[in-house]
Amino acid sequence: MAAQYTTEIGTGIEAGRTGDVPRLAAKGVTVGYADRTVIDALDVTIPQGVVTTIIGPNGCGKSTLLRTLSRLLKPTKGSVVLDGDDIAKLKTRDVAKKLGLLPQSPVAPEGLTVSDLVARGRHPHQSWLKQWSSDDASVVERALEMTGVADLADRPVDTLSGGQRQRVWISMTLAQGTDLLLLDEPTTYLDLAHAIDVLDLVDDLHESGCTVVMVLHDLNLAARYSDNLIVMKSGSVLAQGHPRDVVTPELLGEAFGLRAKVIDDPVGDRPLIVPIGRTHVQSAGTQD
Ligand SMILES: Nc1ncnc2c1ncn2[C@@H]1O[C@H](COP(=O)(O)OP(=O)(O)OP(=O)(O)O)[C@@H](O)[C@H]1O
Ligand SMILES: [Mg+2]
Repeated sequence: MAAQYTTEIGTGIEAGRTGDVPRLAAKGVTVGYADRTVIDALDVTIPQGVVTTIIGPNGCGKSTLLRTLSRLLKPTKGSVVLDGDDIAKLKTRDVAKKLGLLPQSPVAPEGLTVSDLVARGRHPHQSWLKQWSSDDASVVERALEMTGVADLADRPVDTLSGGQRQRVWISMTLAQGTDLLLLDEPTTYLDLAHAIDVLDLVDDLHESGCTVVMVLHDLNLAARYSDNLIVMKSGSVLAQGHPRDVVTPELLGEAFGLRAKVIDDPVGDRPLIVPIGRTHVQSAGTQD
């Protein structure tokens, strides 16, 4: 479905670029809030055309990193490089044409309808020279369909359930039509079936050449749906690489303080994490 979206509509989604330049990179980035530093001298590279998922415990700096990579937060030291350019030197509209961000807890203006919110995703493509067009309308319509919210188009966003609202925000991010997507917990509020739908959509977007960076808390879905994991702890990157190489009981212990077994996922060739918990240590056959 998403492949159809990119070929049928295509507006803004370019074919995946090739070459050695990473899509996005943080170079020696120090960033935080007021006088509190959250991330200190962090280097991270987001590879082109790959689904990268950032995992890590609450408060470790995942959203801070994503907001910095999308220029919502300005580092006090270091820089973010987007397609070879210092993001701080790019115009807001140019960044928005390249990169779509789904923030962790977006809030819609009161009374705004779903279709009006999703249409806002097209703003970077408009100017006094280029007004709203039928192309924009088709992109919005398609984005609504891709996330299964077309039948909610006329409803005010603030009357929707948490899961419906989340899919509307994803729809708005898709309507922006960028081939680089930063999604902060896109599956929040979604039941498992809708979460899988959204991650399948991410997979389709990846197949059509998009680079995706997301934050997920479900480690098994992260391992299943990404080729690159970035594991964060206390504002630093603890490990980065393919889930098969990164996900080990030791790493889970170090990052989350989680006791778990790692087995083969019976669906796909990825690791599957089976948390043990204090009350199941004996039945898990481990005292570690
Ligand atoms: N607007 C803010 N002002 C001050 N401190 C903030 C702000 N936003 C986040 N923080 C702090 O920065 C640190 C990192 O927060 P961040 O939101 O990046 O964590 P996270 O890894 O995304 O966590 P979660 O998994 O809970 O979403 C936390 O200690 C948090 O309290
Ligand atoms: Mg967060």
